[in-house]
Amino acid sequence: MNVPFLDLKAQHRTVKAEVMPLWEEILDSAAFVGGKHISGFEQEFAQACRALHCVAVANGTVALQFIFQALGLKPADEVIVPVNTFIATAEAVSAAGGKPVFVDVLPDTYNIDPAGLEPAITSKTRGIAAVHLYGQPADMDSVAAVAGEFGLWVIEDAAQAHLAEYKGRRAGSMGIAAGFSFYPGKNLGACGDAGAVTTNDPELAEMLRKLRNHGSAKKYYHDIEGYNGRCAAVQAAALRVKLKYLPQWNEKRRQHARHYIHLLGDVPEVVLPTVPEDCMPIWHLFVVQVGNRDSVQQALAEKGVATALHYPVPLHLQRAYAHMNLAEGAFPVAEACARRLLSLPMYPELDDGQIEYVCQCLKEAVR
Ligand SMILES: Cc1ncc(COP(=O)(O)O)c(C=O)c1O
Repeated sequence: MNVPFLDLKAQHRTVKAEVMPLWEEILDSAAFVGGKHISGFEQEFAQACRALHCVAVANGTVALQFIFQALGLKPADEVIVPVNTFIATAEAVSAAGGKPVFVDVLPDTYNIDPAGLEPAITSKTRGIAAVHLYGQPADMDSVAAVAGEFGLWVIEDAAQAHLAEYKGRRAGSMGIAAGFSFYPGKNLGACGDAGAVTTNDPELAEMLRKLRNHGSAKKYYHDIEGYNGRCAAVQAAALRVKLKYLPQWNEKRRQHARHYIHLLGDVPEVVLPTVPEDCMPIWHLFVVQVGNRDSVQQALAEKGVATALHYPVPLHLQRAYAHMNLAEGAFPVAEACARRLLSLPMYPELDDGQIEYVCQCLKEAVR
């Protein structure tokens, strides 16, 4: 049996009939930039995240960059970033002119370790980027408590957490602003690149709208220098269709996660993901820990089971950050994660037989 890591073609078969007429209408009207699908999606996504405002942008990386810029990040200002995340979280800080400062992650949820925050705070620290990695909410109360004590803002990197919940609150409604990615493989994915910011702050939302559109609220009148960071209308139209299905797709992922946990619960060689109380993850990824990870991955591949690594190298050991001179040993939890974590196939269209096969192959591989 072959189990792909992700099957976007299957998802698109279910929405194609609804997306195509919208795309045809966009082609016919030539309304490619801005328009009713952008404003419609912004309204619907803000509502889904229980936030007051949504600003659709070109991708998740500029969503984060624009947040930092709208918050007035200045050169040499520092933003604390977990060292186990996709590089975009840190890149966005640098692109906005600031400096990412890494902290380690928790060994159970793999999210930012609140105990690492205080030692990382300096007179230049402006804020904290809490990433809801793999679709699992970060410990927002603990992060907010430290931020409050030191007068810092908290932003959410919710690129992997569409509709995830923490103590009844949705990702995208907890920080001063949140960046989302709609990269095709995300739980809510566009048919190309797209992203968004959600916020409850109307002034921040206005600034974000300017930043994405050359600093302009009115055509050819520029209040500030901005960017071309707009979301395409065709992407917003596809996202509106897919957003309707997102709750049921996320529920399917939760069912699959329960199935994996049930089948792997008695396998001591496989460390399963931990879900903190009061959290509702959306299982963007289903990540386990195993010893001899690379050979386990190879054995699975030979059986037709595709897996992936999130992430094989923690940020402080990436060549891009060699200038920080952070040696191996600086962030032991993230370093262990990089050696041991293995992401199993996870998407709504998986079937029970495939999950059973993955678990059977995994059990054989670890023993
Ligand atoms: C945690 C995280 N942050 C930011 C991003 C950046 O999003 P995008 O690829 O849409 O620029 C991603 C997406 O890959 C991500 O996984």
